Amino acid sequence: MRRGLFITFEGPDGSGKTTQIKRLQMFFEDKGQKTLLTREPGGTIIGEKIRTLILDPEHKEMDPITEAMLYAASRAQHTAQVILPAINSGCTVICDRYMDSSIAYQGYGRKLGDPVRVINEIAVRGLAPDLTFLLLLDPEVGKSRICGELDRLELEKSAYHNDVYQGYLKLAEQNPKRIVVIDADRGIEEIHTEILETIAARIHPDLLSMR
Ligand code: TYD
Repeated sequence: MRRGLFITFEGPDGSGKTTQIKRLQMFFEDKGQKTLLTREPGGTIIGEKIRTLILDPEHKEMDPITEAMLYAASRAQHTAQVILPAINSGCTVICDRYMDSSIAYQGYGRKLGDPVRVINEIAVRGLAPDLTFLLLLDPEVGKSRICGELDRLELEKSAYHNDVYQGYLKLAEQNPKRIVVIDADRGIEEIHTEILETIAARIHPDLLSMR
């Protein structure tokens, strides 16, 4: 059985990840490719409970280390219960955020630094995405695009979101083979086409000729 691809999407809040993820899943499914769309924090019953706990705007007292460990705990469960079994059964997994989010938000945003990478390496058990799309948009523009009520992380001040943004830029610089930076301040179709072309060029040579 051929191992499935593992593709992750990253970016500041409001960067349009969810729209692009759904477009990509539809593309794969139209081509008859078994695809699993999942997200972090969450993706399992335990993970969704952790998600509710972390994002609740009432939990203002949450300590940054508690926060980092909760994200890592959700990821550990998600990796073991969902992502690894799916990839091993030949399914393409598309995940809305993964370990890079923790490094950007908790490592750079909360300034917890390298320990965040260490706890997450335990959580992911050596699994790394085959390709990561980093959708970049000016953090202020991103915030203005968010519909509905803001969650606890979205309510953070602009300085925090700027640090997250800078953290993402550093991650992209350090991982040029895996992380592809996408200018998210463009139309949905234009971005979708760039994503497909990148997947074809980097990890799936037959993608555009699949019927
Ligand atoms: P998400 O549901 O992806 O929010 P959005 O759709 O608005 O991008 O993620 C929820 C929040 O959790 C988001 O503000 C980013 C944050 N987050 C972290 O701080 N660390 C992490 O490891 C993950 C996965 C998310």
